[in-house]
Amino acid sequence: MRHYRLALLGFGNVGRALSKLLLYKKEELLQRYRLTFSITGIATKRHGMAIDSRGLDLNRALAASDLTSISRLPIPRDTHEFIRRCGANVLFENTPVNYETGQPAIDNLILGLEAGMNVITANKGPVVHAYHQLSELAETRGRKFYFESTVMDGAPIFSLFRETLPGSNLLSFRGILNSTTNMILTRMEQGESFEDAVAYSQKIGIAETDPSGDIDGWDAAIKVSALVTVLMGIPLKPGEVVRNGIRDIGPEQISRAKSEGKRWKLVCAARKTASGIEARVSPELVGPDSPMFGVEGTTSIVQFETDVLGLLSVIEVDPGPQTTAYGLLSDFLNLVTK
Ligand SMILES: NC(=O)c1ccc[n+]([C@@H]2O[C@H](COP(=O)([O-])OP(=O)(O)OC[C@H]3O[C@@H](n4cnc5c(N)ncnc54)[C@H](OP(=O)(O)O)[C@@H]3O)[C@@H](O)[C@H]2O)c1
Repeated sequence: MRHYRLALLGFGNVGRALSKLLLYKKEELLQRYRLTFSITGIATKRHGMAIDSRGLDLNRALAASDLTSISRLPIPRDTHEFIRRCGANVLFENTPVNYETGQPAIDNLILGLEAGMNVITANKGPVVHAYHQLSELAETRGRKFYFESTVMDGAPIFSLFRETLPGSNLLSFRGILNSTTNMILTRMEQGESFEDAVAYSQKIGIAETDPSGDIDGWDAAIKVSALVTVLMGIPLKPGEVVRNGIRDIGPEQISRAKSEGKRWKLVCAARKTASGIEARVSPELVGPDSPMFGVEGTTSIVQFETDVLGLLSVIEVDPGPQTTAYGLLSDFLNLVTK
């Protein structure tokens, strides 16, 4: 029987979904993997922090409006003190993405690794801005830095190549990696205006109050950067991805595409070239012969071309925080069971 002490940095949609999944899987982890866990710390920005070396009550944490009330030990002054004092073996970092620098998540992950923890994140920032630094530090310390949930939530993308495609080389990929724009384009095909489709996406919680990160292709570009950086081994920043969002797709373009039996999709694509990499995010007209044609709403898809297989596609239907949580759990199980 092995026992793991876990700490959660960030307790929003994803941190809370992970907590519920851990509660749901607790008995299965014990029976199937002979593994138990306790949550020794949870930290947020405005909803307090809690640490308890004997393990926090997750149900109480989920019900608390301020975590301070459930802490058995003195409250850390800041995130760095939290990481140093939480006493965990595994740190889950699920704070908001910083597209420009990846901070403060990068520093928090470095601190976690230096304190001897394995670190797992759903945050794309550290992957595109510090993948090599964090991976090398993890290796030096005999720990892991895993980030399955950063692209396509819980669908296996990074672990697909790491665990199951040894000896393969990724040559190119194409896909739909941003749920909000795909939902907006799908709703516009049903006759809704761009503004109403954005408002709908905000209402169901997939678009932020300021949706420009999705609409202008930044979220898609950071995912392209993450895939290129990790799976192709070529560091690529989001600003280096040729990027066009969906603002220029109006009702006329949508209905013309429909009359031609085609659909507009915000396509993410990258290809290795003799001189490096070509990477872009841009609206494309796709026909029924494309696997992207039938991908609607929040569903996402990526199609990989390698030097050893034909085209290989992964489709994730209707993801959400619960599937992101599964990506984090799969990282945890991959690192403790191998
Ligand atoms: N939502 C998804 O389905 C999804 C899918 C894939 C990847 N992701 C990624 O997962 C991460 C978390 O997403 P989310 O939807 O859970 O975000 P969220 O609901 O906004 O939650 C973020 C959490 O981080 C806390 N936080 C913010 N800054 C912090 C700091 N400096 N120190 C400590 N805690 C801090 C917040 O504290 P307060 O509670 O006090 O605000 C909150 O608890 C993001 O990087 C996102 O891009 C999300």
